Amino acid sequence: MIKSKKEYLKEYELSISNPEKFWSNYAKNFQWISPFNKVLNWNFDEPKVEWFINGKLNITENIFERNLSKIRDKTAILWEPNDSDAEAKKITYNQLFSQVCQFSNALKKKNIRKGDRVIIYMPMVPEAVVAMLSCARIGAIHSVVFAGFSANSLSDRINDSRAKVIITSDGNFRGNKIIPVKKIVDEAIKKTNSIETVIVLNRTNMDVSMKKDRDYWYHDTVENESTESKAEIMDSEDSLFILYTSGSTGSPKGVVHTCGGYMIYSQYTFENIFQNKNDEIYWCTADIGWITGHSYIVYGPLLSGATTLMFEGVPTYPDPSRFWKIVDKHKVNQFYTAPTAIRALQSFGDNYFKNSSLDTLKVIGSVGEPINLEAWNWYNSNIGKDKCPLVDTWWQTETGGIMISPIPGVIEPKPTYATLPLPGIQPILLDNNGNEIKENEVEGNLCIKYPWPSILRTTYGDHERCKKTYFSTFKGYYFTGDGAKRDKEGNYRILGRVDDVINVSGHRIGTAEVENAINENPSVIESAVVGYPHKIKGQGIFAFIIIDKNQYNQNYKDEIRNTVSDYIGPIAKPDEILIVPGLPKTRSGKIMRRILRKIASNDFENFGDTSTLLNPDIVKEIIESKK
Ligand code: WT7
Repeated sequence: MIKSKKEYLKEYELSISNPEKFWSNYAKNFQWISPFNKVLNWNFDEPKVEWFINGKLNITENIFERNLSKIRDKTAILWEPNDSDAEAKKITYNQLFSQVCQFSNALKKKNIRKGDRVIIYMPMVPEAVVAMLSCARIGAIHSVVFAGFSANSLSDRINDSRAKVIITSDGNFRGNKIIPVKKIVDEAIKKTNSIETVIVLNRTNMDVSMKKDRDYWYHDTVENESTESKAEIMDSEDSLFILYTSGSTGSPKGVVHTCGGYMIYSQYTFENIFQNKNDEIYWCTADIGWITGHSYIVYGPLLSGATTLMFEGVPTYPDPSRFWKIVDKHKVNQFYTAPTAIRALQSFGDNYFKNSSLDTLKVIGSVGEPINLEAWNWYNSNIGKDKCPLVDTWWQTETGGIMISPIPGVIEPKPTYATLPLPGIQPILLDNNGNEIKENEVEGNLCIKYPWPSILRTTYGDHERCKKTYFSTFKGYYFTGDGAKRDKEGNYRILGRVDDVINVSGHRIGTAEVENAINENPSVIESAVVGYPHKIKGQGIFAFIIIDKNQYNQNYKDEIRNTVSDYIGPIAKPDEILIVPGLPKTRSGKIMRRILRKIASNDFENFGDTSTLLNPDIVKEIIESKK
């Protein structure tokens, strides 16, 4: 653990001057079945990145066997159910290990082998973690899909990954709703042909249909299974998981992370940023369906032997004091959430946190989107009581772990800044022509110039897409898609996406995806989607649509929202829908989104160069429709 600025500077220096030495030193903390014989091979042109070459390991041996003698009876997962009156559950490391072994054996009986893809579409319950770790134990590649995604999104992911198995539940408790998850899975499977087995956790006792010889109850599969299971021998560069994420074009892509590098980087970052010690309780409020859940609910904390709190419900149920009550109830020491949750809870007023002492908190964190000054200050003073370092952590699904962040007691937070890169991370700002901007007090495209252990290796089944998306815009660099500013001291402030990706409540949504969904609606002829500032969500979704007058009906807004919800999921529903007579297009037919972004945020001036527009007059007409 880094303890001082001096130590940080020393580590950073070594990590840059001799990255291989730096990371191989840290890798000594892990249990290798056989050691790696070279630390790194890389080029950002193909791209090809390999870490800890020829090392053999199993990440679950590093969670369990490596540490068990010290933490056998320590709580691994502290589970808080949706219902605030229901009892919380504590699962020790030893119990979790037994459950993982049992379920690993169950998966093997269902013919799942190393390299097979397994979809996990589950609520926030410990069995979801068991499912992830069991896949890792036997070398199957898990792909967790956020259970808020629609059947259609789920079938896309099944098809892209050619998954053999889905692990799911009958239903999900979410606030005062029960979501019929198994029904969504049944619907999704209809449009796929690779699924052989569905394993269903009974969470809500709701009625579900179970297809013979395909669907099995989770509890039946583990009954009578041994609590021992030999870990599969994995190469450092074998895939650990696929996680789908949206980009500026096409359908979501499967970001691939591998066993060795991901393991090392998730533990390294968890330890240093959250500084969790002894019996302290750590809580990250993300869903396991996102990378934050993977790295900082499951792998980082469990590799570090921490107690990770897992919450099934939502921040506003039974009322908006729920987070703060959980912090007091379980004496949470490190708390990690998203700006959108902070802004939402702030909007309910002071009464909801006033009765919670929050005095166990030592570190508070933020992730997923830029945090505005007002939310930063509210969080810092009302939740952190001006005494907890607020770590604004910048990273991405593709980076696997936190890249730029304050470190408690080491790197001072600065409001709205993610501050400094962690050891091993070499950020760089490039101008639009790809030239490095070396000075400070500048803005540019945020790129990374050297690999770190948990950089994505490929996009599943389509390496060319990986190359095109991340390694082609600026040759020789990993391009993050974000713009950033660097201040006098070298601190980074993330300004947001510079591509056609909208960050809604910390969730990445591609404009093209939403447009495709909207265009499924029969009354829509064409659409263009942009992000605009939204008080709670950070960015909202604004859809400009051209409508077929013959199909027009008054409920078009609801209908379009429903179409998007069916097609992608409720998180992608447009907040604003505006009928327009046309869209601003260049001669090559490309929509000039920059103009639409301005109009959507009520900024009707200085559109810049519009001379390449095929139909410059349309801008005025759209503004008229907006006013
Ligand atoms: C995008 C990645 C990383 C886990 C959650 C989101 C934005 C993320 C911050 C931050 C400003 C941030 C970026 C990034 N982002 N963290 N601290 N400050 N922006 O993962 O879905 O892969 O999205 O989220 O725009 O590119 P993701």
